Amino acid sequence: MLPSQALLLAVVFALAALQALASDTFMAAVYEHAVILPHPTQEPVSPSDALALMDKNMDVLEGAIKEAAQQGAHIIVTPEDGIYGWRFTRESIYPYLEDIPDPVVNWIPCTDPSRFGPAPVQERLSCMARNNSIYVVANIGDKKPCDSSDPSCPRDGRYQYNTDVVFDAQGKLVARYHKYNLFLGENQFNYPKEPEAVTFETPFGKFGIFTCFDILFYEPAVVLVSKMQVDTVLFPTAWMNVLPFLTAIEFHSAWAMGMRVNVLAANTHNTSMEMTGSGIYAPAGARTYSYNMKTEDGHLLIAELDAHPRLSPASPPAVSWNSYALSVERFSQNDHEFTGIIFEDLFTFTALTEPGGNLTVCQKDLCCHLSYKMAEKRDDEVYVLGAFDGLHVIEGQYYLQICTLLKCPSTNLSTCGQPMETAQTKFEMFSLSGTFGTSYVFPEVLYSGVQLAPGEFKVLRDGRLKSKHGTSKPLITATLFGRLYEKDQPHPLRISL
Ligand SMILES: *[C@@H]1O[C@H](CO)[C@@H](O)[C@H](O)[C@H]1NC(C)=O
Ligand SMILES: *[C@@H]1O[C@H](CO)[C@@H](O)[C@H](O)[C@H]1NC(C)=O
Ligand SMILES: *[C@@H]1O[C@H](CO)[C@@H](O)[C@H](O)[C@H]1NC(C)=O
Ligand SMILES: *[C@@H]1O[C@H](CO)[C@@H](O)[C@H](O)[C@H]1NC(C)=O
Repeated sequence: MLPSQALLLAVVFALAALQALASDTFMAAVYEHAVILPHPTQEPVSPSDALALMDKNMDVLEGAIKEAAQQGAHIIVTPEDGIYGWRFTRESIYPYLEDIPDPVVNWIPCTDPSRFGPAPVQERLSCMARNNSIYVVANIGDKKPCDSSDPSCPRDGRYQYNTDVVFDAQGKLVARYHKYNLFLGENQFNYPKEPEAVTFETPFGKFGIFTCFDILFYEPAVVLVSKMQVDTVLFPTAWMNVLPFLTAIEFHSAWAMGMRVNVLAANTHNTSMEMTGSGIYAPAGARTYSYNMKTEDGHLLIAELDAHPRLSPASPPAVSWNSYALSVERFSQNDHEFTGIIFEDLFTFTALTEPGGNLTVCQKDLCCHLSYKMAEKRDDEVYVLGAFDGLHVIEGQYYLQICTLLKCPSTNLSTCGQPMETAQTKFEMFSLSGTFGTSYVFPEVLYSGVQLAPGEFKVLRDGRLKSKHGTSKPLITATLFGRLYEKDQPHPLRISL
């Protein structure tokens, strides 16, 4: 054999080996954790008391990590605030924080724990990843000292960040992300000066990470998908459910579909705070999810995902969200329109008075079209078609365009838009579309009892959200939730920083 032939063979073998290493699918796990909270004191506790509380939570997480690894999971996501909870001031959270280095330092805390000073939480998380050969994603607090040479240094001489960390299967710190869009009341933490688009490569695809409220904004969430082309998003959250459009399982699965990525969403569990709903979401729908308002138990979910969902034939096509809606005439005249409030936003509604038909309702630049056929038109239930085009102002300010088919809580039309969880009407068919002025639209379908409808609906290339073969359960809502990121103003708190 000539030396060049040997070289060619070697190259061919090397490529084949690489291809064998890179997998088409992987096993993902998320753990919804009922966090053991500190006593509701505003006073700081000692670092050892803080660590004792965090160890109690990590004992529970360790059980989930071991179980996930035994079941073959390659990665597990644990929730935001999952190691110490959310009831803090700036001072009282301080004993819980560790200095978390930039992952470029190439550090395995499990084997070199004191390289950057005391870091017992990072050490334990790293060892849990290493001992179980699984990627571990957790949310902890970072502290970064600063001084008067930095004009924006807080008066107490440190920045405190809500931080996600990822340890690979050897226990190496491979990602650190500082939450950019803090939620109202998260006064224990600082805003990072710039948004961070944090990604890392694995044999099972490219990953990005962000936290909770970030999912409603452009940076870094949309940047990770549109510009950095990640395959899977890791999403620790402490999400308080708001019906009818912002319940965790509903909105997070819709974001995965609208952005055409996998999302691993791990929620904190606390029913009195309305925090429940975790899932493993593929672009075509939830692979598994849980929603539990009945008990205070944690819950482990495991499912298989495509490593590169955009390349998978099963994934939905890119959508032109307004194509269909712009191509048709109004279905109906504005006779019986009325207004109603959803999460403080003023919607324009029209009622579905017939067992089936075609309706249009408009608000400002947005017209929403619905074709539908109910399995049975009940006298004791009313559904509306609604449109909203404007600035949402409660719990954050952001521009929305929404088309919704929605059940009203009662036959009194003044109640339409108020939250409700159950319904009795099934649909043989629905098809919803809108004249959206954005390419970021998240398709939501929620059934009675706050259940998802994976596999029962699809989005066509022309932007129609359609049932496939009717709804197997009564419908609460089918909604196209559009975001107009370019109209957003900078966050007011960020300006005052
Ligand atoms: C990891 O394994 C080592 C050796 O078996 C053990 O001493 C240690 O406690 C384990 N740590 C964790 C976090 O599982
Ligand atoms: C849920 O959160 C609330 C408010 O922070 C707290 O008072 C309550 O004890 C928590 N419930 C459980 C079961 O931990
Ligand atoms: C709704 O429109 C479709 C197609 O445009 C038409 O076939 C159907 O008859 C209409 N339904 C009603 C009840 O008007
Ligand atoms: C209809 O609902 C509205 C808002 O909940 C309420 O104020 C009104 O009294 C109700 N009307 C009837 C007739 O029940």
